[in-house]
Amino acid sequence: MRLSRTADLWWKNAVVYCLDVETYQDALGEGCGDFRGLTQRVDHLDRLGVTCIWLMPFYPSPDRDDGYDITDFYGVDPRLGTLGDFVEFLRTARDRGMRVIADLVVNHTSDQHPWFKSARASRESPYRDWYVWADEPPEDGPKGVVFPDEEKSVWTYDEEAGQYYQHRFYKHQPDLNIANPAVRDEIARIMGFWMELGLSGFRVDAVPFMLETDGQADAEKLPDPHDYLADLRAFMDRRDGQAILLGEVNLPYSDTMAFFGDEAPELTMCFDFIGMQRLYLALARGDVRPLAGALAERPAPPKDGHWATFVRNHDELTLDKLSDDERQEVFDAFGPKEEMQLYGRGLRRRLPPMLEGDARRIKMVYSLLFSLPGTPVLFYGEEIGMGEDLSEKGRNAVRTPMQWRPGPGGGFSSADPERFPARLVPGEYGPDHVNVAAQRGDPDSLLSWISLLVERYRETPELAWGELTPLDSGADTVLAQLHAADDGAVLTLHNFADEEIEVTLRLDRAHARAGLIDLLSDGPAGADAEVSPEGEATLRLAPYGCRWMRVE
Ligand code: NOJ
Repeated sequence: MRLSRTADLWWKNAVVYCLDVETYQDALGEGCGDFRGLTQRVDHLDRLGVTCIWLMPFYPSPDRDDGYDITDFYGVDPRLGTLGDFVEFLRTARDRGMRVIADLVVNHTSDQHPWFKSARASRESPYRDWYVWADEPPEDGPKGVVFPDEEKSVWTYDEEAGQYYQHRFYKHQPDLNIANPAVRDEIARIMGFWMELGLSGFRVDAVPFMLETDGQADAEKLPDPHDYLADLRAFMDRRDGQAILLGEVNLPYSDTMAFFGDEAPELTMCFDFIGMQRLYLALARGDVRPLAGALAERPAPPKDGHWATFVRNHDELTLDKLSDDERQEVFDAFGPKEEMQLYGRGLRRRLPPMLEGDARRIKMVYSLLFSLPGTPVLFYGEEIGMGEDLSEKGRNAVRTPMQWRPGPGGGFSSADPERFPARLVPGEYGPDHVNVAAQRGDPDSLLSWISLLVERYRETPELAWGELTPLDSGADTVLAQLHAADDGAVLTLHNFADEEIEVTLRLDRAHARAGLIDLLSDGPAGADAEVSPEGEATLRLAPYGCRWMRVE
């Protein structure tokens, strides 16, 4: 592994950190997070080792879907600051060597967007055809609402327009019509605008929905959606060859692959939704096979593409790609109460409460995240083990303010907590017990552990993009893998059971007599070891233990 390559293809061993400006840090004492506050926290991210910040939508919005309902693609919501504040933040992040990407939400707009207001007001409006209209909902149109608790159809009749409009998400989010060349040009203009200000790419929202043109009038005249995505990527590459598109595509692996692009590159990275769901099944069973199976099935991304791996994000923990029985197993283990579940398919919880605060297990999961091939994406608060607030509505349970220190405002804001966008998590996961300040100086804290993992992960590019060989550990509770690259190899072991275990692994003869250097700990279970002359290595793992060993 030549390190220079990891700089050219920076996203392949990046550490991505997703945050919402609104809930991160309030600098102005108004109760809402803002860009000035975020700028003050850039050094926290730098210390953690984050290399790429993903900003959730910060554009002007009525905020009926946490900012994913946009009224102006070229601005900053006044609650969060000004465009000037945004640029100052970007400059500060870049000064610390961090890149910044942001959500590109162009499947739809808010129904309050001036384009939609104009479109619904008249058939003659130049914006009418920017949306998808029908006199009657077409038979062959898209099926399935994304938020079944709130919406019953993807078509809503608009009295003012005298027609139905399509919306895959909430009815206040009318879908844009990407078959219209003017819409496609505008999307490129939006990307160009933010790139010119210094963004290094985008997390592309709802990609399959954005490309969907089923059931639309004149379907045969529509562009091939994948050609369109490839065009967008080519446009971005022309502007900045180092920029990335990180796409939200929650489909089976075989279908997801199309979004990396076939003939021409499309998305640079796709989230590994399948691996994430199987990880939870494996954790629920205390059996690594569902995860090992996903890794074996997962196709290799194209040469410069990559998977993006994650444990949690800002949405429900979706389990939609598991079978009904498998999903029930995960519900039984990690979210048995109805109030923990959402849309019948997911859990509105964060990881630590799901694992009953078991630090060994939580640490093991993050060790997995940083050692599996792919680029790890953290959601704010994961680094300190924040919990959820089930009294918040729907997905907002996991979108509570960041916890910086103990006390009434949790260091998030000095304003009256009544004015916060969401209340701070109450109880044992609240800021008095879980916060950055207390964990920073504690070598046993989750924050220290994740900082260590980030450091080792960055030093060990074999993990993120080396070749993975599963090893037979002889136990269904232990995942053993060899990550090899041109000039190095690393062995990782993860124990999914609450029992100490000794495993004997058979390595390639080429590794006979190699030294095994523990990269994570020098404790009793973490002593260095050696591969036998026969190519075998016998290693102990603590209950829910994990080890990364460099093969010397
Ligand atoms: C996916 C986003 O992750 C989610 O939070 C949002 O509600 C929908 N797309 C609609 O934009």
